[in-house]
Amino acid sequence: MLILAFESSCDETSVAVVEMSEETRRILSNEIATQIATHALYGGVVPEIASRAHTEAISSLTKRAMENAKVRKNEIDAIAVTASPGLIGALLVGVNFAKGLAAAWNKPLIPVNHVKGHAAAAYLAFPELKAPFFALIASGGHTSLTYVKSPTEFTPVSRTRDDAVGEAFDKVARVLGLPYPGGAEMDRLASLGDPDAIKFPSAAIEGSLDFSFSGVKTAVLNYSNMQKQKEMPIVPEDVAASFTRTVTRSIVKQLAGAYEEYHYDTLVMAGGVAANSHLREAVSKFAEKKGIRLCMTPKALCGDNAAMIAAQGYFEAMAGHFADAALNAKATAGKSVF
Ligand code: KG4
Ligand code: ZN
Repeated sequence: MLILAFESSCDETSVAVVEMSEETRRILSNEIATQIATHALYGGVVPEIASRAHTEAISSLTKRAMENAKVRKNEIDAIAVTASPGLIGALLVGVNFAKGLAAAWNKPLIPVNHVKGHAAAAYLAFPELKAPFFALIASGGHTSLTYVKSPTEFTPVSRTRDDAVGEAFDKVARVLGLPYPGGAEMDRLASLGDPDAIKFPSAAIEGSLDFSFSGVKTAVLNYSNMQKQKEMPIVPEDVAASFTRTVTRSIVKQLAGAYEEYHYDTLVMAGGVAANSHLREAVSKFAEKKGIRLCMTPKALCGDNAAMIAAQGYFEAMAGHFADAALNAKATAGKSVF
């Protein structure tokens, strides 16, 4: 099945063509236009600007995705699009474009949940991966440990009660004066600092599998203010390393707790924060120790991209989940996110 997919939920416009079947998972093209440079000027994503930039980029990206995949429109079997969750104006650009194209080309339309899409990126790198599996999904807007019973049935067993982990990385980066989005730069700095330099509070909630990242984020802010007040230096490398160690340990602690409870044998790691090298190393060690098969999304597919939306779109299509002409975008997918 050849799927043309669209992603426009936040600050990346992406269009991909992916071939999916029982045995095949092949990315033919995965074009991404990032708006990071534009939003960096404001220190965060400006929704209105994001919507306009998606509108500007989406037509030419589609042309490029089709050309690079070397396919013609009559070969496309279905069109998938991120319909939730995300910035509403940004989502609407992709949804409307996909709807228009589906109508013009007479193709079935598949709405895809963005967070499920992140987990589906793992299918592209691990062709033999099949649900059920357990997933750590960590991005700028979402953090959970989720049981994926079938490719379309997601049950979170742990979630963040406040900030998402990526959001915490970005806010700490901002305190350190790093450009938006700070996640990748925090990763680099953390490799240069002492992870034991500063003690920050755990993000793992005691007696629960849930997370709270706002406490550790505030602790970094307080530490920074205290150092300034005392006219003491702030070593960004040490702050980044200490914060990263706390966050990484918190995540591994909850993964271990969930393992005790659910005895999962396959763990998928996905989402923008899954690109973090320190987290990758810590989760790899944990999985190795427990004998868990770890399917870590390759770094290139951790961030927002349309290939992952195509992969999830395939499974949604297999489950008969198509949209009609009334498809709308939703900023939130409901209480459970999925
Ligand atoms: O999945 P994603 O691209 O978008 C959302 O769906 O939110 O995730 C973006 C988030 C941002 O917060 C970004 O700072 C973070 O992922 N991120 C990282 C790294 N690369 C991206 N966080 C930590 N370490 C990284 N290497
Ligand atoms: Zn995302």
